[in-house]
Amino acid sequence: MNILILNGSPRPNGNTAAMVKAYAEGAAEAGHTVHVVDVCKKKISGCLACEYCHTKGKGKCVQQDDMQEVYPLLEDAEMLVLASPIYYHNFSGQLQCAINRIYALDKPKKLRKAALIMSSGSDLVYSGAIFEYQNSFLQYLNLQDCGMFAAYGENNKSEELLNRLKDAGRNLKD
Ligand SMILES: Cc1cc2nc3c(=O)[nH]c(=O)nc-3n(C[C@H](O)[C@H](O)[C@H](O)COP(=O)(O)O)c2cc1C
Repeated sequence: MNILILNGSPRPNGNTAAMVKAYAEGAAEAGHTVHVVDVCKKKISGCLACEYCHTKGKGKCVQQDDMQEVYPLLEDAEMLVLASPIYYHNFSGQLQCAINRIYALDKPKKLRKAALIMSSGSDLVYSGAIFEYQNSFLQYLNLQDCGMFAAYGENNKSEELLNRLKDAGRNLKD
């Protein structure tokens, strides 16, 4: 299965990156093809709501920025993993910009599964991200939930956490 992971953390050696790495390694071991896009290293602007994509553009976004590299990966992906630090009870702004730009594709054609990875400072801060994941991805895009993973405080980067992520990646079925 083709898996696309959008990592919304700007910290290359941060907590989200560690969870993403473990999950991606497990999935690769199980024979899946994994692409990780660090959206913070990209220039991805917010959606302009110009509706070019739904009119003249026929599914193409008018904005010629780095999201143009992500669109083909989204079109090929069978599974989308959203990974983010929690900022103000939701995804990072950079990840939110990339998510909003999926609008151009309506539903990426091959996409059928999803998972959510979150890192935060404290507990009980996930409901904003989970609401968006459940309503926009599981329900609206009709994706099957392959799991939600969250870590906060000292649990971030713990061996137990990273083993759990690696196992979850390893256990992904086609
Ligand atoms: C702008 C900003 C907003 C944050 N907002 C929250 C928050 O609302 N709740 C929380 O528990 N942690 C919050 N944090 C802490 C991060 O979620 C936490 O440090 C996380 O582990 C960072 O992940 P990273 O190492 O992958 O970047 C915030 C951090 C930043 C920089």
